[in-house]
Amino acid sequence: MTRHVHLRFAMAFGGHTIRPMSSRITKAVIPAAGLGTRFLPATKAIPKEMLPVVDRPAIQYVVEEAVEAGLSDVLMITGRNKTTLENHFDRVAEIEALLEARGETEKLDRVRAATNLADVHYLRQGDPLGLGHAVLRAYQHVGHEPFAVLLGDDIMAGGSLLSRMIEVHEATGASVVALQEVDPAMISSYGVAAYDASSSVEDGVPGAGPDTIQITGLVEKPALEDAPSNYAVIGRYLLRPEVFGVLEQTKPGAGGEIQLTDALQVLAANREELGGVVGVVYRGRRFDTGNKLDYIKAIVELAVDDPKLGPALSPWLKQFAASIGE
Ligand code: UTP
Repeated sequence: MTRHVHLRFAMAFGGHTIRPMSSRITKAVIPAAGLGTRFLPATKAIPKEMLPVVDRPAIQYVVEEAVEAGLSDVLMITGRNKTTLENHFDRVAEIEALLEARGETEKLDRVRAATNLADVHYLRQGDPLGLGHAVLRAYQHVGHEPFAVLLGDDIMAGGSLLSRMIEVHEATGASVVALQEVDPAMISSYGVAAYDASSSVEDGVPGAGPDTIQITGLVEKPALEDAPSNYAVIGRYLLRPEVFGVLEQTKPGAGGEIQLTDALQVLAANREELGGVVGVVYRGRRFDTGNKLDYIKAIVELAVDDPKLGPALSPWLKQFAASIGE
């Protein structure tokens, strides 16, 4: 890192000394301002994060996950069509009054659950210049604290990935990213991690426990032959606030967008000054609901898990699968 860049970090944070950090994380940032072009025309008038998965929009699962990990201060970075998002997490007095009058308490509870879930704030991204740009917009709200970023279209089903990531941040003081081993054929759709192979993934980074790796570099959407591993970065991050200073300096990268991966690469490469990046390998189920096939799988799998829908859906699904054969 050049001295010039280092000074910019210091200036951006009012001259705070950059030091290992592990203060309690309370804030979650959920970027939901992407254009969702893979899902057109469904996403012409609503954000892809608002597409329903079984009985609630994808983004509600993400907010529920943040709250379960103890992060109830949620900042959503929104784009065009933000009204549907805001309305979803707001009260709708007429619906509540109607359900109350009819005595439909179960439905009423479900409606209220979305409203009472978290303390939700909204901020417009302006132009959708990329995920890195969306995260940079959170600086005013987050300030000089570590914070979580959860992609609003990425559902992690089961497990406690975010809590585990918080634990790893607290143990190491590093920024933390979630990683998933992906099929090499898919690797060029992701940010991909290079890592220090001197300790085994099973044993993990000293102090951080199993299934963690010390990341030495990151590349966004590499060609298969350039991919440094098959560990792909998935939509959960715990970031030290130094990332804001780095994002300010980050030029558009892959796809002409300001990439969060490029800023993480700087954090990873400057472990002494910026705390480095540790990866937590996630082996649970994940659905990228911005992708049509994964969206359909999310609905089917989560409906099978649902105690009310599952018993009726599962036998039908087996019959249907048999009818279409191999
Ligand atoms: P994606 O790359 O999946 O979103 O961004 P996209 O650009 O909407 O996708 P397609 O390819 O056009 O279908 C990952 C996450 O980052 C957010 C998205 O909303 C999604 O949650 N994002 C992306 C922003 O908030 N702002 C951006 O400028 C770009």
